[in-house]
Amino acid sequence: MQQYILALDQGTTSSRAILFDRQGQVHATAQREYPQHFPQPGWVEHDALDIWNSQLACAREVLRQAGVSAEQVTGIGIANQRETTLVWDRASGAPIGRAIVWQDRRTAEACDRLRGEGKAELVQSRTGLELDAYFSATKLQWLLDHVPGARVRAERGELAFGTVDSWLVFKLCGRHVTDASNAARTMLFNIHTMRWDEDLLDLFGIPPSLLPEVVASSGAVGAADEQWFGRRIPIAGIAGDQQAATFGQACHRRGMVKNTYGTGCFMLMHAGERPAVSHNRLLSTVGWKIDGRTDYALEGSVFMGGATVQWLRDGLGIIRQSGEVEALALSVPDSGGVMLVPAFVGLGAPHWDPYARGTIVGMTRGTTAGHIARAAVEAIAYQSAELLAAMQKDADCAVSEVRADGGAARNDMLMQFQADLLKVPVIRPQVTETTALGAAYLAGLALGFWRTQEEIAAQWRVERRFEPQMTSARRDELMARWARAVEHAKSWAVP
Ligand code: G3P
Repeated sequence: MQQYILALDQGTTSSRAILFDRQGQVHATAQREYPQHFPQPGWVEHDALDIWNSQLACAREVLRQAGVSAEQVTGIGIANQRETTLVWDRASGAPIGRAIVWQDRRTAEACDRLRGEGKAELVQSRTGLELDAYFSATKLQWLLDHVPGARVRAERGELAFGTVDSWLVFKLCGRHVTDASNAARTMLFNIHTMRWDEDLLDLFGIPPSLLPEVVASSGAVGAADEQWFGRRIPIAGIAGDQQAATFGQACHRRGMVKNTYGTGCFMLMHAGERPAVSHNRLLSTVGWKIDGRTDYALEGSVFMGGATVQWLRDGLGIIRQSGEVEALALSVPDSGGVMLVPAFVGLGAPHWDPYARGTIVGMTRGTTAGHIARAAVEAIAYQSAELLAAMQKDADCAVSEVRADGGAARNDMLMQFQADLLKVPVIRPQVTETTALGAAYLAGLALGFWRTQEEIAAQWRVERRFEPQMTSARRDELMARWARAVEHAKSWAVP
């Protein structure tokens, strides 16, 4: 009987479930979008039960669709949107309110205050992170301070905090855990000692009883209860989606880089067995923990990647489906001097400006929807180029290629423009579902489905290589113009 690993990829806009075979090939996929809530400008929330229900429905659907029985599933791996913050009642399992999503900026002023008190250095030295509203700590603090009774209940030990991985594992098997890669995104976890940091818990006023146990990224943590799939299935892999994608792209060695074009764009470089130190406002973070060994990564996070195309569809209405953007962008030879800075939720690395706002510059009477679409696609590449530039300054090793994945990596125009701006080849692998694949690999490694990381790396195959073609002069001119456009977007919504 053919065996599979079931990967759950719980993303910002949709839940997905993918079955992988022993060759690391996709056997079947199911996906469900779920509601996004924007109760105030800059706020983004999810209903924790929507996350769970959509994820469970996909997992059941993919098995049904593929005619695969629960007996044929060796194990489950989980990859998840990171930082998104949930709190639930330990006894009833009921969430105390909506989840605050990683994109949510409501705690930007709280971060400003802490920065004003000189706390940024402490945070960075312990966690490797910028003191920013992106991470979980101030979101958790906000929930404790604003949900009636939450702080008192937390102090009595009645509540549990978790990122989305914790929530899914809790729902699947009742355990309260998180893996090291997700813990590293909370701004409460010390990436040097690999423990929750007492000074940071004090700083953010977080009762330790709220916290999950931190486990390895690859290793059995429990088994999904029989009620979900008719049989208990081991859960053996957990990682934040970007770390999972790095693993799935087989970036297992120092200096290897991947960029995922999802809702945001997340570029990660494998940094070796010690935390990297960034002098260029990148994040130093945990890649994964396997067999007691921690691999670290250097990360650049851009908040609006593929979501910029969604905005063209839902906000501006100039395309009906995201897939139409490439044709519209190619309907013009270039952006006609238009630049679009998609700072809709502020700017992430390397700017870290929560008050920046979306901006379009350079329009004339001749500007068309095609130019705007082209500028939107190009913006994804410009932002990623800024990340690689910062990475190259931070790293002491040269980057020879960037491995691309995620939905927007299917856009050939974007990939070519990206290679032109990066001045290194951009490589698209045959399996672009690398986030889910990484989660599957982490679970499969723990369960003997795959034996070694070398065996996994040997499954990675090139689908297409995009070589840089633009002259350096042209590239430098474009990057300089982009920098000017970004200046217009910065600090627009002054606090
Ligand atoms: O840090 C946020 C990231 O994990 C979200 O990923 O794939 O939902 O855009 P994605």
